[in-house]
Amino acid sequence: MSESFSTITLEIDDSGIAIVTINRPKKLNALNDEVLNELADVFKDIQIDEEINAVIVKGAGDKAFVAGADIKELRELDNRSGRMASQKGQQIFQLIEDTRKPVIAAVNGYALGGGAELAMACHLRIAGENAVFGLPEVGLGLIPGYGGTQRLPALIGKARALEMILTGKQVKAEEAQRLGLVNKVSADPVEASKELLNDILKNGPIAVRDAIKAVYHSDNRSGYQVEADLFGELCETEDCMEGTSAFLEKRKPEFKGK
Ligand code: HXC
Repeated sequence: MSESFSTITLEIDDSGIAIVTINRPKKLNALNDEVLNELADVFKDIQIDEEINAVIVKGAGDKAFVAGADIKELRELDNRSGRMASQKGQQIFQLIEDTRKPVIAAVNGYALGGGAELAMACHLRIAGENAVFGLPEVGLGLIPGYGGTQRLPALIGKARALEMILTGKQVKAEEAQRLGLVNKVSADPVEASKELLNDILKNGPIAVRDAIKAVYHSDNRSGYQVEADLFGELCETEDCMEGTSAFLEKRKPEFKGK
């Protein structure tokens, strides 16, 4: 079975593994509003569809999983709309994390900013050999806004997470595995994800569901509110205008701290 939205494809195989493909390759699958809305719709369907036992999320093409939130759209945001954009993405990624069927991100190429945040909202991550992870928002005069300030420290510890967030530096697949950001590196991350899911699906389905529920139960939610508030405030700074404009004009930003 396969279902099509405009920016997302959903295919379901015989074992009930759904493959969600983010399909905007010319913009390296960047998350604009349309992609986010369709991602929410697809995950709402997945949660209630009894034919689906597990999920793989991937990006179309070899170059990128997702290169982040759409910077053209970010440039238009002010404090209020910036906070709301952050909260909207947080809620959709929460919906993904709250899926009580195992969700694996199969990451080929760039997973930057919102793309890394999407991968981190999945329960497990398998990286292709060319995968690159990073939270480059500070280079745009922003901070991660789709939960990255909360999920990255939870996955790799505060010190390593802060280093990645403050420098915006990119890490390749093997380093990502060493850090604990990805579970495995594979030449074929979709195939490797299917193998792992088929192993998981041999176990009791209620136990699998409840194990996911228990692991996420202790998460502290208030950090997400702080992240969204700060993201909104940053949207109104001159530095954010400079950082996002510099990206779109293909030049280096000159920040003034204003
Ligand atoms: C919009 C993007 C984009 C993005 C790439 N593109 N990333 N458009 N938003 N995040 C577009 C480019 O403008 C270009 O369009 C096309 O995709 C191909 O990208 P290039 O830059 O030409 O490719 P390349 O030189 O190979 O560089 C690849 C790259 C670079 C290193 C991944 O594209 C890049 O740095 N992208 C931005 C990464 C980033 O900063 N992400 C974080 C965003 S902030 P044209 O039309 O020129 O062909 C974020 C915040 C989340 O995610 C929270 C929000 C609340």
